[in-house]
Amino acid sequence: MEVIYFMMHAKSNNKILITGGYGYIGSHTIVALHTVGYEVIVVDNLSNSTKKIGKNLEIICKKTHKLYEINILNFDELLNCFIKEKPAAVIHFAGLKAVEESVKNPLLYYQNNIQGTINLLDIMGKVDCNNIIFSSSATVYGNPSEMPINEKHILNAINPYGSTKIFCEKIIDDWVKVNKKRSSTILRYFNPIGAHESYLIGDNPNSVPNNLMPYIVSVANGTSEKVSIFGDDYPTKDGTGIRDYIHVMDLAEAHVLAILNDQRGRSRVYNLGTGKGISVLELIKTFEIENKVKVKYTVSSRREGDAAEVYADVKLVKNQLNWSANRTLKEMCKSAWSFGKNL
Ligand code: NAD
Ligand code: UFG
Repeated sequence: MEVIYFMMHAKSNNKILITGGYGYIGSHTIVALHTVGYEVIVVDNLSNSTKKIGKNLEIICKKTHKLYEINILNFDELLNCFIKEKPAAVIHFAGLKAVEESVKNPLLYYQNNIQGTINLLDIMGKVDCNNIIFSSSATVYGNPSEMPINEKHILNAINPYGSTKIFCEKIIDDWVKVNKKRSSTILRYFNPIGAHESYLIGDNPNSVPNNLMPYIVSVANGTSEKVSIFGDDYPTKDGTGIRDYIHVMDLAEAHVLAILNDQRGRSRVYNLGTGKGISVLELIKTFEIENKVKVKYTVSSRREGDAAEVYADVKLVKNQLNWSANRTLKEMCKSAWSFGKNL
């Protein structure tokens, strides 16, 4: 950490603008950024978060940050924010992320995620802010043809949410090519779970959770009745789906390294996962054992569009950013429950 601190202070402007900063991954990344001394500006319309996150971040970090309650679709308000703050770089988390909702309402996703990103890049160009880190997803690989998945795997989204990520990646890539001062890092997250050790922030969607871990938590705390395991007839070790679950704080720290190792004129793409596949049943069992709680479940049919097995090849990010995930599945399960049991 000390090395990081000194490297960071070598940079003159250490102000980072975070879109979607009060969301699940954004809030954890703010903690990681504050830890190494960055100043943080948050832009969030609170469509999937609350102002309480800001208060909790100040308790955790013992530092303040500014919130701009702005929709990134509002060009003028966003431009004014950039003119006032003059950030050195942007981490762009703001986006909608529910796969099923994106199938039902694709235009909402294309507008929020793609138009929002275009506005942001346009404004960054106008104010000479040249470095962007973008939240992409393993969803860009669709149903993968080989495992583990490396960054050269063909991109093949199978739902509108995934398509927005592919389009945004491409748009960012083209934006960088226009000017040698610009740079981007596309981070393709696998399955982030868990919470910060303070348990003041975590995965707490404003509506019913779609993802497995928040659903397990909602069953364990009595909010939902039981987990439906979507299929136990996959060609996997126990028949249930396999994913690459990664602790959200490991993920957050990768963003700090991406900023510190920024190279002007370059577009980089990295997978962020552990490189290990864990089944649905293994996750439920580990959660039960570590937290000494029962999680009722039933097996239902497969969810449309789900792949049997998805896990990352993480060599590139290890070689280039010297980053790897080091928190365990047990830590992920424990922290998810410590945060979620009182929700
Ligand atoms: P989240 O919903 O918790 O956070 C997103 C934040 O962005 C929220 O606070 C929301 O209020 C804000 N936001 C959304 N649209 C906005 C807009 N138009 N203007 C301003 N603010 C807006 O989601 P998250 O899990 O923290 O995900 C962050 C990013 O990472 C998203 O882009 C998501 O697609 C991507 N991602 C997430 C996962 C995951 O499993 N959580 C996996 C892969 C990629
Ligand atoms: N699952 C269940 N029951 C549930 C929810 C999920 O059995 O109630 C299973 C799924 O079938 C899958 C695994 O648990 O095998 C993980 O499912 P999630 O919905 O938690 O995660 P996905 O891998 O389907 O997708 C998530 C995000 C996407 C993102 C992707 C890759 O929802 O936005 O990870 O990062 F793109």
